[in-house]
Amino acid sequence: MSVSNEIDKSKALWSPESLSLAALDALQDGVWVCEPDGAPLYRNSVAKAMEARVWSRARLVGSIEEVVFNDDNLNQLRECGRQSSEYMLGSLDDATGEAVAVVALEMQVLSDGTGNCAGLSFHARDVSREWRREQTLQDRNIELVEAYSRLKQTQTQLLQAEKMASIGQLAAGVAHEINNPIGYVHSNLGTLTTYVRGVFSMIDTYERLWLALPAELQSLSAPVELIKQQIDYDFLVQDLPHLLGESREGIERVKKIVLDLRDFSRDGRDDSGEWALADVRRCIESTLNIVRSELKYKAEIVLSFAELPLIECIPSQLNQVFLNLLINAGHAIKEHGQIAIRTSAGSSEICVSVADDGVGIPKENLARIFDPFFTTKPVGSGTGLGLALSYGIVNKHHGRIEVSSEPGLGTTFSVFLPLRQPASIAA
Ligand SMILES: Nc1ncnc2c1ncn2[C@@H]1O[C@H](COP(=O)(O)OP(=O)(O)OP(=O)(O)O)[C@@H](O)[C@H]1O
Ligand SMILES: [Mg+2]
Repeated sequence: MSVSNEIDKSKALWSPESLSLAALDALQDGVWVCEPDGAPLYRNSVAKAMEARVWSRARLVGSIEEVVFNDDNLNQLRECGRQSSEYMLGSLDDATGEAVAVVALEMQVLSDGTGNCAGLSFHARDVSREWRREQTLQDRNIELVEAYSRLKQTQTQLLQAEKMASIGQLAAGVAHEINNPIGYVHSNLGTLTTYVRGVFSMIDTYERLWLALPAELQSLSAPVELIKQQIDYDFLVQDLPHLLGESREGIERVKKIVLDLRDFSRDGRDDSGEWALADVRRCIESTLNIVRSELKYKAEIVLSFAELPLIECIPSQLNQVFLNLLINAGHAIKEHGQIAIRTSAGSSEICVSVADDGVGIPKENLARIFDPFFTTKPVGSGTGLGLALSYGIVNKHHGRIEVSSEPGLGTTFSVFLPLRQPASIAA
């Protein structure tokens, strides 16, 4: 079809007014021109089609008169002179009222040249495509932010795992080096105690013999008496066994620390317990039996056990983890509180959480609590190995420990353990 660019001015249809109206009608956008009070004077065909739809903005849903041409909206427009807003358009026969289009509505006061309002114009453009693109972008952005935070979390876990692995190696080396000398010091102290006992009993026998000699000979013992006074022999006889006993106790504590360090750095292929299919609920209950007397004055213990499948684990070692968590929870409660033990099961793992309403962990300490020897307890009452050991044990079980804490409100440790171990370990 050929369209002539020549306008036949003789035909009334092509007056400038009708030409302008024809051009407005050909637009892809909706156009309304209204009286100052909002009564429509002109609307093009796109506008008519848009009017037939259900309009909505914020919580307002209804006809165009109710949603756009209402008094509040028109007054605001007259005050500002210009306004733009986005509206959703639904289909009249669409019972769900879901938006089928989004329009950007530009509203403007038409001035008569002297600053008075001669009318109002409304110009609605369908921006559904841009809007959907923006929605998709926003969704993508949310996905990206979530993926980023997951990545960050994984990176922190990896760093933690790496740190623990290198500390583990270091600990294993130190433990190995210390183990030997500690062993012979411990055994020598035992022998020394026996020797000292023998020497004392010999001196005792000499003394008794000496006292049986005639009195004139006893004066010969003056130099011996002098030495006895100088070294405070009577006190020495009493104190020496104490000193040896204390030293043995000290060495035994060091031996325990070395053992803990070795446990912490073990890689799961050792003989420290048997892999077995076990009921974790029973592990928790038997551990509770051990600590209950220690905790009973401190906390009410609340149990919430889910149905748990048997899991492949080293039960004695898991007991150690639960013991550490429960003792820590008890220590965190200053006067009286609550310790909640919960279990839950998923398709591939179970979770045991120990939550207390104690002092909580300051943010700056959270990253350090699994470090060996990190403790906030007074010297002598905590070695700072409890959580490091627990971390090592759970890691060996291919599980993970998570902690969340709110200073002043309490702490929750969650231990996740897989139902089955990789084939190489189970074999
Ligand atoms: N439930 C908890 N509430 C508050 N702080 C905790 C809790 N559990 C652990 N902590 C903090 O983490 C530190 C390290 O704990 P970890 O069990 O490793 O060592 P410890 O309890 O200090 O000593 P150990 O367990 O060797 O006797 C604690 O000193 C404490 O500051
Ligand atoms: Mg502890």
